[in-house]
Amino acid sequence: MKKLFTLLIAVSLVAAIASLVVAGNNAPPEIQYPTKLGTVTFNHLNHENLTDCASCHSAVQGIEAKQRKDAFHDLCLSCHKEQQQGPTSCKDCHVK
Ligand code: HEC
Ligand code: HEC
Ligand code: HEC
Repeated sequence: MKKLFTLLIAVSLVAAIASLVVAGNNAPPEIQYPTKLGTVTFNHLNHENLTDCASCHSAVQGIEAKQRKDAFHDLCLSCHKEQQQGPTSCKDCHVK
């Protein structure tokens, strides 16, 4: 009985830590980029475990506005082509 109790405590501790880790990620589930060609909808939630956080963020964050287009296209398209998953044509990403 005592062993079971200890096990239960251990399990709930692990669950509590896991939920803390999840709550610590304050990323938006989805980010929309309205452009002249149509809106790009980036599902952050579906993407955030595909590679490490920093490899995406360092590619696009803190860069000049006029370089954003190329930086995003490089980041998003290189992975979609490599993995042969995810949209690679303009109108599949920029949706009117
Ligand atoms: C596949 C690429 C990718 C991965 C992997 C990724 N992110 Fe992001 N994340 C983005 C993009 C793109 C943005 C929006 C940046 C912008 O519009 O300037 C973003 C934005 C965010 C934001 C909103 C605030 C901000 O800095 O713009 C948070 C918080 C965030 N990500 C957390 C995380 C965490 C934590 C992880 C890892 C568990 C992660 N992301 C993994 C691409 C990614
Ligand atoms: C590390 C690889 C990787 C990167 C970087 C990446 N994607 Fe993806 N993307 C995928 C994969 C794999 C799928 C297909 C799996 C799925 O649908 O969840 C996908 C699917 C998508 C889809 C269609 C399904 C959905 O989730 O909405 C869109 C739209 C998309 N990506 C947009 C983007 C944009 C915009 C960026 C850049 C900010 C980006 N992706 C960066 C791997 C990546
Ligand atoms: C994988 C998704 C994806 C694909 C495919 C894609 N784009 Fe983009 N595009 C984006 C994202 C994300 C941005 C960044 C939007 C921002 O930062 O405001 C962007 C930005 C742009 C911009 C700048 C928009 C503005 O209003 O500042 C133009 C123009 C553009 N793309 C044209 C194209 C063309 C043309 C193609 C096809 C050859 C294409 N894109 C394919 C995701 C994509």
